[in-house]
Amino acid sequence: MARDSSEHVRKVRRYFDARKAEYDAFYDSPSSFGRWFNRTFRRAVYLRRDRALTLARQYGCKTLLDVGCGSGRNTVFWARGGLECCHGVDISAEMIGQARSLADSATIGDRCTFELADFSETSDDTTFDMVVACGVFDYVVDAESFLRRMSQSATRIIYGSFPGWTLVRSPLRKARYALRGCPTHFYRRAEIERIFRAVGFGEPEIEPVPSGHLAWAVRN
Ligand SMILES: C[S@@+](CC[C@H](N)C(=O)[O-])C[C@H]1O[C@@H](n2cnc3c(N)ncnc32)[C@H](O)[C@@H]1O
Repeated sequence: MARDSSEHVRKVRRYFDARKAEYDAFYDSPSSFGRWFNRTFRRAVYLRRDRALTLARQYGCKTLLDVGCGSGRNTVFWARGGLECCHGVDISAEMIGQARSLADSATIGDRCTFELADFSETSDDTTFDMVVACGVFDYVVDAESFLRRMSQSATRIIYGSFPGWTLVRSPLRKARYALRGCPTHFYRRAEIERIFRAVGFGEPEIEPVPSGHLAWAVRN
C-alpha cells in the first residue's frame, strides 16, 4: 500500500511545532534536577552529537548538513566544536526560528545557516563533507530513500541515530506519540545495515547506544 508521505510529514511538523520549548529543554533545562534528569535518562541525545563531532574531526570535515536540526542545539555545538560551516534543515518553522535565534545569540550566526524544508523533498545539489540526522529517523516514512537523499548531499560521511526496537518500550513509545498524533518508527540492527548497504555510500559502522544505534558510512 502506498504511504502518504505528505500527510506523515504534516503530522510530524505539527507535533514539533507544538513542542519547541519542551524539546529544547532536553539540552538546557532551567532546573538543576532537569539537567541531571536529561544527562542521566536522555544520555543518547548527548552521545549521538558527541560521536558526530568525533567523526567530523577524525575525517577532517569542515562543512556539515544537520538534517532535522530542531532547535539548532547540535548545529551550534558542532560549529563551536570546529566545523566551519553548518547548515540546518527542518520542517518545523518554530524549530527553525529557535535555531536562528540560538545561533545569533551564540554569535556564530555567520557559520550556521538554517532552512525551513522537508529534507526528502529538497533537490539542492550543494554538498557537505558530512550529513547528519540525529533523532530524525524516528519520524521518517521511508528510511532508505531518506538516507539515499542524505548520501546525495554528502562527500565524506553520512551519519544517523536509529531508535531501537524493544518488546516493551517501543510499543509504549509508539502509543504515546500516536496519542499526540505523531507517527514513529523503530529499527533493528539488521534493518539499519540493509538500508546502508542499499544506499551503498560506504561500509556501514553500527554502534549500540542506550536507546538504539548510531550508524555511519565513510566514503573513501
Ligand atoms: C527529535 S527532533 C531532533 C532535533 C535535533 N536533530 C536534535 O537532535 O536535537 C527531530 C526533528 O526532525 C525534524 N524532521 C522530521 N522529519 C523531517 C523532514 N522530513 N525534513 C526535515 N526535518 C524533519 C522535526 O521537525 C524535528 O525538529
